[in-house]
Parts: sequence; C-alpha cells; structure tokens
Amino acid sequence: MSMRSVILGSGSALPKRAVSNAEMAEMVDTTDEWIVERTGIRNRYIAGEGETTSTLATDAARRALESAGVDATSIDLIVLATATPDQTFPATATTVQHNLGCHGGVAFDIAAVCSGFLYAMSTADAMLRTGAAKRALVIGAETFSRILDWDDRTTCVLFGDGAGAVVLEAQDVDETDPNAPGILATRLHADGRHNDLLYVDGGPSSTGTVGKVRMRGREVFRHAVVNLASVLSEVLEATGHTAEEIDWVVPHQANYRILDATARKLGLPAEKVVVTVDRHANTSAASVPLAFDTAVKDGRIKKGDLVMFEAMGGGFTWGASLVRI
Ligand code: UT7
Repeated sequence: MSMRSVILGSGSALPKRAVSNAEMAEMVDTTDEWIVERTGIRNRYIAGEGETTSTLATDAARRALESAGVDATSIDLIVLATATPDQTFPATATTVQHNLGCHGGVAFDIAAVCSGFLYAMSTADAMLRTGAAKRALVIGAETFSRILDWDDRTTCVLFGDGAGAVVLEAQDVDETDPNAPGILATRLHADGRHNDLLYVDGGPSSTGTVGKVRMRGREVFRHAVVNLASVLSEVLEATGHTAEEIDWVVPHQANYRILDATARKLGLPAEKVVVTVDRHANTSAASVPLAFDTAVKDGRIKKGDLVMFEAMGGGFTWGASLVRI
C-alpha cells in the first residue's frame, strides 16, 4: 500500500459576461477570422463589477466540494494558483478559505502563471503524501482581463477570466493494482532565462503598479511545443505508461495550434485532447482545471480514466502530471 492523492471531485466558474470575437473586433483592429485561424478562440468570459479572482475561485471551490460530496470544514489545505490575486496580500487562498467557512489548516497562493495549476497540484500532492494535510482544495483562478492592455491586439484577444478547482484526498491505495486511482507522477520545470518573452510590465516592488501583460507570441509558441512534448515524455517514462494508454489529455488552453502540434508530436489522436480554448480562451492558471471540469461534467472523463494534465506559461514554467481518475 502507498499514499496517493486522489481527485474526489471538480468544479468551475465563469464570469457572467461572454465576449465574442466580433465584440473584440469593435474594440481593437482585429477580425473573427484572424483570431479563429491563429488561435481557435471564438469566445471568452470577462469579469464584471463584483466578480474577482476570489469570487470565481470560491464558486469553483463550492462546486468541487459538492461534486466530491465533502464538507468545506474537512479541508485542511487550500492551494490557489493565480497571477491576478485580489490583493498583493493576503493570499487569495485565505479569502477563499474565509468565504468557504473552513478556518484552520493551511492556505496559500502559488504564482506560476499558466502552469500554476500544475505547480499547485504538485505542491498539494507532496503535502498530502507526507501527511502534512489530509484533504486539499487545489484551485486555479484568474481575472486576466484586469491586467490586459486593451489597446494591444496582440494580447487582449487571447485571454479570458475563470476558475477551476479539484478536491484532492490522501488515500492509502494498493499500488500493484493498475487501476488504483491517484496522481501517478508529476514533472515540473522552470527556466528564468525566458522571462522577457511573457511578463507583466509592473509589480509592487518595481513600479508600484500592477502592470500589463506583454508577450512575444511567436517565440512563446515555439518553446511551448518543444517543452510540452518533452515533459509529457518524461512523465510517461516515469510511470511506465505509453501515449496510447492515455484516455484524455487536458492541456493548458492557450492556442489550438499548440494543442494540436503537441498531440501530433506524441502521436496522440486529436479526439483524445480536451479543447475548451474556443469557448474560454486562455484563462492562465484556471485553464487546466476549467477544461478538466468541463470534460468531467459533459461525461467525457470518467472514473478509471488515465488523464494527462499539462501546461506551459510565463517564466517560463511548464509541467505535466499523469492521474488515474
Ligand atoms: O499562456 C501562456 C502561453 N502562451 C502561449 O502559448 C501563446 C503562444 N503564442 C501564440 O499563441 C501565437 O504566437 C499568437 C496567437 C500569439 C500569435 O499568432 P502567430 O501566428 O504567431 O502570429 P504573429 O505574432 O506572428 O503575428 C502575425 C501577424 C502580424 O502581422 P505582420 O507583422 O505579419 O504584418 C501581427 O501584427 O498578425 C498580426 N496580428 C493580428 N492581426 C489581427 C497580431 N495580433 C493580431 C490580431 N488581429 N489580434
């Protein structure tokens, strides 16, 4: 027997306001055709008054608790991945903890931008397996619309707001059973040499402002395909599984062309890749759990499936995790 972190349930939340490409074309010099052809994005959700990273995260967390069938008071760890916290401090995780009414335990934020959910899940997994916590909420939540330069067509059309969450529980499982659930392996990476390719031009300690997203898209694209294919192979090797055995890939939703190119490199059919970038655009740390919850709720991902999570983002940071649901 060995300790594994098992996903008990998931949830997600989106702002009320959907914004189509046609609406974007009224704001900046772009077209629906360009956005769809280059990215696959058709729609995104933008937070309005009263909607913040913590409100979206709280809604996603409540739905995850409900689907897991557990009470908020049983949660002793909240790890929230975001690059758009409500405040510089305290951690948005503590606001969510307060909203849920689960006082006690540990709550903190993780900043790894689009890879944030993978970093958060891996951190929670390590704490659960060592006994530091028993039941965790892992959340990815963003209001990227608040740090977009709405005059920059090269970035503002790409992002959206949202949140996704999973409940993870430490369980003693029989690891000789090939169908035993839980996180099988995760690999994370960071390479700070590239932090000028995707960044925010402000911060509390440098400019005293929040700053706006800046990206050299073509270079990021190139690194994304190479890094993702490589970390996916690493995780497969670590677990002894083959690409053919994967039931679903749940990738970070930045660009349909990246999802497609990465799947091709691994020889995975496109039908096994969960795609939500068309509906949600790039929601940074929220995109992986949002896509996961979408595919669970529409019945694609089922108990027993072998699911590969993967993401790449600013830093650069990237990672992948293979999970038996
Ligand atoms: O989430 C973290 C990871 N992020 C990513 O993975 C994003 C990775 N990068 C990408 O997804 C793509 O590089 C983009 C979607 C950002 C851009 O696509 P691209 O095919 O690499 O286009 P490009 O940047 O090379 O730009 C091509 C042209 C340029 O015009 P010229 O210089 O060829 O005349 C741009 O000015 O498209 C122009 N352009 C636009 N045109 C209409 C850039 N943005 C727009 C726009 N509407 N919104």
